[in-house]
Amino acid sequence: MSVLKLRIYPDPVLKQKARKITIIDGSVRKLAQDMLDTMYKSDGVGLAAPQVGVSKRIMVIDVSSEEEPAKPIVFINPEILEKDGEMIGQEGCLSFPDVFFEVKRASKVVVRFQNLKGQTLKLTAEGNLLSRAIQHEIDHLDGKLFIEKATNELKRDLEMTKAGLLDGDAEEISKKLGDDEGLTLTVPSKEAVTS
Ligand code: NI
Repeated sequence: MSVLKLRIYPDPVLKQKARKITIIDGSVRKLAQDMLDTMYKSDGVGLAAPQVGVSKRIMVIDVSSEEEPAKPIVFINPEILEKDGEMIGQEGCLSFPDVFFEVKRASKVVVRFQNLKGQTLKLTAEGNLLSRAIQHEIDHLDGKLFIEKATNELKRDLEMTKAGLLDGDAEEISKKLGDDEGLTLTVPSKEAVTS
């Protein structure tokens, strides 16, 4: 078991488009296991390789609850084949500690990927954490971050400022948002995806 060092925003590796994996060998299997160890250690539901400094198209997700047995899924070279509908929900990201805000995603996704045995699989997820996590992680592989997809940019900036990831005056942003809204922002919903 190896827990890898998480890359925190604004680490430049997070903005790079990751390279396709051509050979699934022992090093890829070890990377997948280390990524899972790192994700579980940080209480995340998903992790993409750029978040541990590896610019390759591999990501891991486990949306099972604490009471359930672990259900890790390793996605190699994932591609979204279909997207449909929309949903809005809280997201977090292990590369943005303590930052949560609402992001709009497609409700349904159909994704094609390879597993660690090199088999090509297809998975459909709709209206749930898995669907949201798949979209969040594939964005990581393309160098895209959830801060680009906030439904409310002021709320995002407030969260980023409070977390020390953005220079700014949290109080001023709070005022702009309106006092009531500003005060309720620090409590992430239980459903929040941190990935
Ligand atoms: Ni993330």
